[in-house]
Amino acid sequence: MECEQRLNWLILAMICPLIAGAPSSMSKRHGSCPEENLNIDGGTFVLSNNYSDGSFLRYICPDGYYPSVQSRLCQYGLWTPKTSARKSPKCQKVTCPNPRVLENGEVTPYKNAYYVNDTTTYSCHSDYKFRGTAVRVCKPNGKWNGTTPICGRDSDHCPDPGVPPGSSRTGHMFNIDDKVTYRCDRTLTLIGSKERVCQDGGQWSGTEPQCYAHFTYDTPEEVSEAFSSALKSNLAVSQQNEGGDQQGKKITLDQGGKLDIYIAVDASDSIDKENFDKAKNTIKLLIEKISYYEVSPNYEILMFATDVHPIITMKNFKSIKDKDKITKVFEDLDNFNYEDKGDRTGTNIAKLYSDIHESMKLEEINNATSFLETQHIIIVFTDGHANMGGDPIPKVNKIKYHIIKNDPKREKKLDLYVFGVGKDVNKYDVNGLVSLRDEEKYFFMLPDLDKVQETFDQMIDESTSVELCGIHQDYDDENKRRAFPWLAQINVVRSPHGSNCMGSLVTSTYILTAAHCFKNGDTADKITVDLEKNLKVLKVEKYIIHPKYNKTAYENKGIL
Ligand SMILES: *[C@@H]1O[C@H](CO)[C@@H](O)[C@H](O)[C@H]1NC(C)=O
Ligand SMILES: *[C@@H]1O[C@H](CO)[C@@H](O)[C@H](O)[C@H]1NC(C)=O
Ligand SMILES: *[C@@H]1O[C@H](CO)[C@@H](O)[C@H](O)[C@H]1NC(C)=O
Ligand SMILES: *[C@@H]1O[C@H](CO)[C@@H](O)[C@H](O)[C@H]1NC(C)=O
Ligand SMILES: *[C@@H]1O[C@H](CO)[C@@H](O)[C@H](O)[C@H]1NC(C)=O
Repeated sequence: MECEQRLNWLILAMICPLIAGAPSSMSKRHGSCPEENLNIDGGTFVLSNNYSDGSFLRYICPDGYYPSVQSRLCQYGLWTPKTSARKSPKCQKVTCPNPRVLENGEVTPYKNAYYVNDTTTYSCHSDYKFRGTAVRVCKPNGKWNGTTPICGRDSDHCPDPGVPPGSSRTGHMFNIDDKVTYRCDRTLTLIGSKERVCQDGGQWSGTEPQCYAHFTYDTPEEVSEAFSSALKSNLAVSQQNEGGDQQGKKITLDQGGKLDIYIAVDASDSIDKENFDKAKNTIKLLIEKISYYEVSPNYEILMFATDVHPIITMKNFKSIKDKDKITKVFEDLDNFNYEDKGDRTGTNIAKLYSDIHESMKLEEINNATSFLETQHIIIVFTDGHANMGGDPIPKVNKIKYHIIKNDPKREKKLDLYVFGVGKDVNKYDVNGLVSLRDEEKYFFMLPDLDKVQETFDQMIDESTSVELCGIHQDYDDENKRRAFPWLAQINVVRSPHGSNCMGSLVTSTYILTAAHCFKNGDTADKITVDLEKNLKVLKVEKYIIHPKYNKTAYENKGIL
């Protein structure tokens, strides 16, 4: 594995080790790197530690452009990759994948390359029905907005699955058990399902493939939307009356109840102390986010590099008698030191998944009945560059086999998510580590940890959590807001993250909201109410929890 590839995860000041266990003393400073020939045409760069050894240089291009060289590292007085006096790096225009792959229709304009802000329009030949987005714009992250346009006859058992931009499809029959396969243009990587099968229910297996260039990213908005909708379906909160104005909410008992979540963060060499703390906060933020759902999951939290370091194991988590287990987990996270991480030269993703599998086996031994009923979620943050321990995919397949046991009905008992973090995530490798179920996205691609935090912040933000703890969903839209003047936004300040809930004004001085908006220890002075979106912020005199509110009352019915 090349050193430069290792640099992406949790950027900033860091040391690129000699792979295979260089003694740490070798990574100490050794003078400085030349300041010449570093400039990029059309962009700028930042340095993590001036021109000193170990300093990391990152090129920055304006929106809609990407750097031809992503980054450099100062090592032993030289830049890697090397600089050249003749050829300086450039900011190049971001392109979106080829949309001209539409079958049975027209794409205008017809061009060789499509750049950011280019608009394309789609229409079907007669006899074909149009689905998808008819006018698409190329976005700065290298993707078309909206959904894939499809011209289909829809006369077969499954609808025409379409041809996503940048891909080609083989297979033109869409009846039960018919297969279609996809590939992406030469320089692009396929994310999602390479092969889809038309199923009895009239649906395609797997997830629509997308073709990513090396500069293609998901925006925090895209990730928070996709991840929170995936989480929502997995955290057993489902919507009733879809399409209606008032969104109902019910707990799906068959699927609800026991939930074990494994969270793992890649902490290999490229992470410095600051980013290590950032990673810990990211985990907290995620747990915080999940705590807004009507479930109390069990957690295992792991940091991994050459070896896997549990911060808390599933077994220990379940043995905590404390009422507030989460507080205990946050303490354990805080107490887990940067120095504790040991050898960080490797990235052993295979060991990570096999350790998680071991934990699962212990859980099964502990109570096989309960294990069968449990929903398992694994969320991994990594750059995907496994450099030791072998191929992780067989380990992941073992977990899949163990939980799903080849029973399609058990597919929903396991969810595998990966957040690719960094400028050069090995997208291809990572795609094999996730679930590829219908229409849900399990792999997310973000440039750095800040963007991951932004994603979770947005998930916690009122616009996405409204329906979880408030009354109405679409208050964001100004007009809708006016149509529902009784809506109040309730803000609770607490560390590290407060909550935003919606409530209804039931008299001129009382607001009704959900009891789980508040947590033990919240005080009235930490609560404000916003009646006109940042115009009228009011203080609260007190909050009253319904005397019969009991978070654990339905535990025996499987609602945790
Ligand atoms: C970089 O150099 C400047 C001036 O030479 C100095 O002010 C700054 O503190 C240095 N930054 C780091 C991270 O060492
Ligand atoms: C795309 O359009 C937006 C809004 O008009 C503009 O701010 C942005 O600079 C454009 N981007 C490019 C790469 O042209
Ligand atoms: C795509 O982007 C354009 C320009 O920003 C916007 O007008 C259009 O509504 C978007 N379409 C969808 C489906 O999001
Ligand atoms: C195992 O779990 C089941 C279902 O959750 C429960 O009814 C049973 O009492 C548990 N058995 C033990 C030994 O804890
Ligand atoms: C909440 O409900 C559980 C289960 O019914 C019960 O054991 C517990 O005592 C209740 N707690 C309070 C505070 O009422």
